[in-house]
Amino acid sequence: MRIEFVLNGKEVGVDTDPAKRLLDVLRNDFGCTGVKEGCGEGECGACAVLVEGRLVNSCILPVIAARGLEVITIEGFRETERYRVIEEAFDEAGAVQCGFCTPGFVLAAEALLRRNPVPDEEQVREGLSGNLCRCTGYGALVRGVLDAADRGRGLW
Ligand code: FES
Ligand code: FES
Repeated sequence: MRIEFVLNGKEVGVDTDPAKRLLDVLRNDFGCTGVKEGCGEGECGACAVLVEGRLVNSCILPVIAARGLEVITIEGFRETERYRVIEEAFDEAGAVQCGFCTPGFVLAAEALLRRNPVPDEEQVREGLSGNLCRCTGYGALVRGVLDAADRGRGLW
């Protein structure tokens, strides 16, 4: 079945099984290898992407569900000023260690800051609660998001 959607600002289409996971289509058909497979069960957020601006775990979404919608992966988000602000803030907070979880956390931060550009610590913890990191503990990630919100004031 032909499925078309907008990926990182470009209209794309793919002939595929509609039940295939969006995660696999993004990685295998479109080379978006920043979308990671961790748990494969919707629990860790490593595979997170934005669909119509909302954070979604692509390992539990059939590609058909993205039909006609706008999908943004870290590859597309990397081109934005907001990405640069989040990346710098994460680096300085020590929020990036092995990096496996980082694309998911960056997109979780983006989704949160779009909804709430000036979150408090509790709201950041809540916004990151769907993402797991084995390396950092979460303090650095939370500081990184709070700092990004400060530095990027006006961008969200
Ligand atoms: Fe999708 Fe863990 S790989 S939530
Ligand atoms: Fe390694 Fe988060 S930095 S899992």
